[in-house]
Amino acid sequence: MNNNVYITGFSGSGKSTSGRELAILLEREFVDMDSEIEKLHEQTIRDIFEEHGEVGFRGFETGLLTQISGKYGQIVSTGGGVPTIPQNVKIMKRTGKIVCLLASVETLSKRISDHSNIAGGKADRPMLYSDDKTERIRDLLDIRRDSYNQADLLVDTEDKSPKMVAIEIAKVLEL
Ligand code: S3P
Repeated sequence: MNNNVYITGFSGSGKSTSGRELAILLEREFVDMDSEIEKLHEQTIRDIFEEHGEVGFRGFETGLLTQISGKYGQIVSTGGGVPTIPQNVKIMKRTGKIVCLLASVETLSKRISDHSNIAGGKADRPMLYSDDKTERIRDLLDIRRDSYNQADLLVDTEDKSPKMVAIEIAKVLEL
């Protein structure tokens, strides 16, 4: 057991912000998988999806996760689709604890659009391309529910700040 904490959950659940707070709180290294993939491939996630498709992107994710899982004590913010691949769940369970952050469809939708406004289009999410984003989020969440439920800890983030979420994770997991 490598003692890592893997923060999972849908886009907009607060994986990066709460993960960063948890890393500060515990004085541990923080790794954001989406940013790492963009750095490694020198491409945005949107461009990776365009060039390699979703299957290619998932392969890169599993490769990166394998690499990350070889190190100890990190707080890892995963991409929203990571737990949908059984091999990824095996890797995470073998090398740490999985936390899944939850929020209502409405809250996710609002956080996602607020974030993409702030990022000026950089926070592009190919999995959410749709005329009706809220409906797309609802559908994907339904498809992914069982995958997310494999986490060791589910945390409701509704009306909680990232710091409150981090404190809750640390307390429940006795970190
Ligand atoms: C994805 C979520 C994104 C990113 C990619 C695919 C997904 O990460 O990894 O666009 O399949 O849900 P966030 O969860 O950080 O938005």
